[in-house]
Amino acid sequence: MSSGIEHVLNELRRFDPPAEFVANARVNSRAEYDALYKDSIDDPEAFWAKMAGELDWSRKWDRVLDDSNPPFYKWFEGGKINASYNCLDRHLGTWRKNKAAIIWEGEPGESRTLTYQELHRQVCKCANALKGLGICKGDRVTIYMPMIPELVIAMLACARIGATHSIIFGGFSANALIDRNQDAQAKLVITADGGYRRGAIVDLKGAVDEALPKCPTVEKVLVVERTKKGCAMQAGRDIWWHDAVDSASADCPAEELDAEHPLFILYTSGSTGKPKGILHSTGGYLLGAYLTSKYVFDLRDEDTYWCTADIGWVTGHSYICYGILSNGATSVMYEGAPNHPTPGRFWEIIEKYKVNIFYTAPTAIRAFLKWGDQWPKAHDLSSLRLLGTVGEPINPEAWMWYREAIGGNRCPIVDTWWQTETGSILITTLPGAMAGKPGSAGLPFFGVQPQVVTEEGEPVEGMHSGMLVIRSPWPSMLRTLYGDDDRFKEVYWSKYEKQGWYFTGDGAFRDKDGYFMIIGRIDDVINVSGHRLGTMEIESALVSHPLVAEAAVVGFPHELKGQGICAFVSVPTGVNVGEKDKITLREHVAKEIGALAKPDQIRFTDALPKTRSGKIMRRLLRDIASGIETKGDTTTLEDFSVLAKLREDKEA
Ligand code: PRX
Repeated sequence: MSSGIEHVLNELRRFDPPAEFVANARVNSRAEYDALYKDSIDDPEAFWAKMAGELDWSRKWDRVLDDSNPPFYKWFEGGKINASYNCLDRHLGTWRKNKAAIIWEGEPGESRTLTYQELHRQVCKCANALKGLGICKGDRVTIYMPMIPELVIAMLACARIGATHSIIFGGFSANALIDRNQDAQAKLVITADGGYRRGAIVDLKGAVDEALPKCPTVEKVLVVERTKKGCAMQAGRDIWWHDAVDSASADCPAEELDAEHPLFILYTSGSTGKPKGILHSTGGYLLGAYLTSKYVFDLRDEDTYWCTADIGWVTGHSYICYGILSNGATSVMYEGAPNHPTPGRFWEIIEKYKVNIFYTAPTAIRAFLKWGDQWPKAHDLSSLRLLGTVGEPINPEAWMWYREAIGGNRCPIVDTWWQTETGSILITTLPGAMAGKPGSAGLPFFGVQPQVVTEEGEPVEGMHSGMLVIRSPWPSMLRTLYGDDDRFKEVYWSKYEKQGWYFTGDGAFRDKDGYFMIIGRIDDVINVSGHRLGTMEIESALVSHPLVAEAAVVGFPHELKGQGICAFVSVPTGVNVGEKDKITLREHVAKEIGALAKPDQIRFTDALPKTRSGKIMRRLLRDIASGIETKGDTTTLEDFSVLAKLREDKEA
């Protein structure tokens, strides 16, 4: 953590938003933010009631917040609402009915635009098709798809009929599908015959076929024909999208759902091996996504907005689909890789669609920085007026490059801190109201009360880092871990149970201006290219291979990915291992979890450093993987020779 603090202390640059931006911004001064923030904290119920009034409810709530049974908070009880209605129908009676809702670009270069009216029509047809396949309110549907418009259509169709969707990132493997389908007890899987990634086809349907024998609850598979390269279709189980959806009726009124009705489950990594099914509600979640989209991105009707995330992650849920469409804005969606066919692809897309607001991840920015200025320079990026980042801490060098090379020194940058669990952005700068500082997320969004505290829960004052907690509930907070209330309490609420605070799992630092700088995870979660991976998950994948006796996985600083994965692996006695076994193990992890979890380094060792009580000393391994001298206490180490050997065995 210390290096992060040093860098924030040395970071004196701050950039006020340009006057033209401020002149038209929704919140255009610090004083206005302060007043709104104060209102939201002094009387949260009145504030949230007022904001919730901007959504369309079929029945108004009886009570804004029920906090009688913490941490199981309920928001807008008695209220009836539908997320799909709020993203679609409510725009149809306005001039927006023929406005582009989604502008889609396929990796091979196709372009499709769906107006609000057309998207609504497709969603209704899909919703009716789902009903025809036996899907009812409350059922779980997993979605395992490429970034094509049918993905948004499928999620809004689920929301329309009250089925809870669980989207699984297309880069995850068949095994990840098994875990998630089993945990969610999914009834239907929606997938495609494939999707394009860097010119190759990702065989999504193949992974579904491999997973389904172990997913007894799944009855049907709905398959979009994206690539037309053909795939096996199992009679009685698999149905083509074009057969089921195209012929379905376009008349499907949105179900009136309780505000607390579960909108989606999204699995994310935690410190233990089993992914956590983060459960989000309908009303509170939608309000958070809607309001942050409006204020943080300063969304206006004439904007073309592009978030480059995959909808398989929460960023895509909130800031490609729910938050953006509920505002009636135009959302660009791109199927493929940032560097296909050239590292200029993103800039080409910005120029082509005249994108005004661009939201991406630090890992992508670092890659672009490395690929060089010539790529953005070859394109007209003058349409851009606001830039955003999300997913991991951004190093000041990358921040400055983003500002200069992409933003032409004219666009404010919003560094947005939030989590799958929080549903929407909790800490950031509001672009017209406050200065941006390289590497700092900023101030709390309305209604959010973050605090940096010590292990014991004492507020940290001055130039020290500590644990980041949120002191009071907010509407888009997770409601529980699907099917596991105890784990929900344990993971997020037990550390500061007495105070009733939500524990984020992140370390943070608050500077003299009150800005929060997020240092990163303090648990056994590593953040690889903005994607959370649990070290335990990767360790379990490794030990399931016969070459592995024991494994310990740690993160280390990585130039492009933020953090890389280093696996220390001890092999069974008598087994000889070499370079090719490292490849075998990497492939094994890719098969068990997905390519994103492949270790960057594998170090074979006879033994792992342990305490006398047998606990692996990860702190030491982290130092070794990062190539730094171990400063901390090693007196509890059982066998000192292990350490020396591990250091010798450096990987190139
Ligand atoms: O460690 C923080 C980091 O990403 C974690 C949340 O990951 P996930 O649930 O996958 O959601 C990512 C997209 C919201 C956080 O606990 N993180 C997220 N945004 C930032 C960040 N770290 C620093 N700065 C950010 N802006």
